[in-house]
Amino acid sequence: MELLKNKIRQEGTVLNNSVLKVDSFLNHQIDPVLMFQMGEEFAHRFQDAGATKILTIESSGIAVALATGFKMGLPVVFARKKKSVLMNEAAYTAKVFSFTKKESSEITVLKKFLAAGEKILIIDDFLASGEAALGLTEIVRQAGSTVAGIGIVIEKSFQAGAAKLQAANYHLESLVRIGSFENGQVLFL
Ligand code: G4P
Ligand code: NA
Ligand code: NA
Repeated sequence: MELLKNKIRQEGTVLNNSVLKVDSFLNHQIDPVLMFQMGEEFAHRFQDAGATKILTIESSGIAVALATGFKMGLPVVFARKKKSVLMNEAAYTAKVFSFTKKESSEITVLKKFLAAGEKILIIDDFLASGEAALGLTEIVRQAGSTVAGIGIVIEKSFQAGAAKLQAANYHLESLVRIGSFENGQVLFL
């Protein structure tokens, strides 16, 4: 997606040749126009996937999942990272190991929002090691539903996640794919 590449070139900053900071439009401040353009792009790429619901994970996945759900006319559910006291109801959980925080955490979705027999489109902002995406696929499996596809805004193709998801035969669509960071520059594939 050329528009997104240009936005990253203009506003993204590379930290330690490993992390891309895009907090001016994706991870802190949000660019609504770009967000809905990305939602349209996902809707186009997954138009034949037969999705019945969208699943993402808080917090940065929510905006792009919302934009996609709006365009596709599908409900959006987000997995929570912290169990709220108000969530004392039957829930699906999966363990997700964060490589940035070096710790394992549990993500949760209430069972009443994920019925069996749905076709779930998973959406997230970044794909790095793939832990978050795989945790979401695990929750879909527990619910007795299937994964219609996985849509990612920014794939860091040099990390393990993309290869893992492709090896598991998921229909993966990433709006931009980053091959490497070199001297603070983003090299797209
Ligand atoms: P993984 O899910 O692919 O295994 O990713 P990992 O544990 O490595 O990443 C943990 C968090 O860091 C996730 O956000 C993920 O989106 C984010 N992340 C990974 N690589 C980058 C990067 O290069 N740039 C930025 N900006 N973020 C990256 P999170 O902690 O769940 O936060 P949020 O959703 O609340 O924003
Ligand atoms: Na994030
Ligand atoms: Na995320």
